[in-house]
Amino acid sequence: MSSSTVPNDLRVGIVGCGAISRNHLEAFAAAPGAQVTVVCDIDPDRARQTAEQYGIAHAVGTVDELLSTGVDIISVCTPHPTHEDVVLAAAAAGVHILCEKPIAVDLASARRMTSACHAAGVRLGVLFQRRFWPAAQEMKADLVADRLGEPILGQCTVLLHRDPTYYSATPWRGTWDSDGGGVLMTQAIHYIDLLIWMLGDPVEVSGKIATFTHDIEVEDTAVATVTFASGALATINATTAADTALGARVQVTASSGATRTILEYPEGTDGRAVLRAENGSVSTTPDYPDDLVANADLRTINGALIPHHTAQVADFVAAVRNGCAPAVTGHDATRSLAVLLAVYESSRTGAPVQLTTDMVVSGDVEEVTA
Ligand SMILES: NC(=O)c1ccc[n+]([C@@H]2O[C@H](COP(=O)([O-])OP(=O)(O)OC[C@H]3O[C@@H](n4cnc5c(N)ncnc54)[C@H](O)[C@@H]3O)[C@@H](O)[C@H]2O)c1
Repeated sequence: MSSSTVPNDLRVGIVGCGAISRNHLEAFAAAPGAQVTVVCDIDPDRARQTAEQYGIAHAVGTVDELLSTGVDIISVCTPHPTHEDVVLAAAAAGVHILCEKPIAVDLASARRMTSACHAAGVRLGVLFQRRFWPAAQEMKADLVADRLGEPILGQCTVLLHRDPTYYSATPWRGTWDSDGGGVLMTQAIHYIDLLIWMLGDPVEVSGKIATFTHDIEVEDTAVATVTFASGALATINATTAADTALGARVQVTASSGATRTILEYPEGTDGRAVLRAENGSVSTTPDYPDDLVANADLRTINGALIPHHTAQVADFVAAVRNGCAPAVTGHDATRSLAVLLAVYESSRTGAPVQLTTDMVVSGDVEEVTA
């Protein structure tokens, strides 16, 4: 569908009616010119209940049924290893796709997805809603405008708490086969995406993973160093084993000596620019409310993310309507996946992993040219 043939009201299908689907349902409800017309879940009760709750005409049990209703966009809200099948089916039907992160759990799968969307001439966007924090947008704009110099050092620290039931109550979580990884794949990937957005193409990764407190196959803790094509360096520290969550911090130092720190605390809320050290002085803007909750439950965390999902959904709808690339492309999402998979490989082999050009070169390979 070229931008000249975009209908007035884009018809949207949601695939997967679990925890994060609420964010997509509410985000599309707030997006001008788009309307959710069908929801799909392999659990028919879930699909029906979601349709009833949100007043949606159709509830179906398969992606083929959803596509047969005639939609312009789908949101993919299913477990990570299932993303590929859904995306390939939608691309084959000429439907634009907004997919939850991670794009996939292996690079071959991610590449098949971006290639299929490119070949079909449909947009592929991947949810990294933290890019829409005003503080992240400002940091990026200042780097692009060269107001801070070149980024030389990045740090991301992700200190989260997950109750054991987070893994035990959802059967697909916590195993290599059905979750693809642990804290890196599911939580830290958001902040790895921010690091890459700020620092550029990653070229080498070393790391170590461990499982300390959770009864899961995959890692609950990880450390890594990343080297970027520019020569910039970054560290990643991440865990879901913290007794009391401290949220996540992304910090960038640039060649002028300026350092900006964005803190997301509590998890899910707006990342705030809490510290700026520039021109020989330091300013802090914590500005926290009094009623902080350290270990919020998942529904609260996901609920707090709705404004950021709303911003990214609006961006994606505009991209479809205007025929331009969305803010976060499938290729962007492949780069963050490449970094975390390299941490797994480095941890296994004890050696640094070089990222090959096809994993990391910037550019919107799935961008539609028609
Ligand atoms: N962007 C974010 O901040 C964020 C937050 C939470 C989850 N997510 C991502 O969203 C995805 C889903 O996570 P969740 O927590 O909502 O999981 P969930 O288990 O709560 O929900 C998944 C739903 O998908 C359904 N499903 C599974 N396979 C399906 C298929 N082939 N077709 C249709 N329905 C299918 C399941 O029945 C279930 O209802 C994951 O990839 C996760 O990483 C992103």
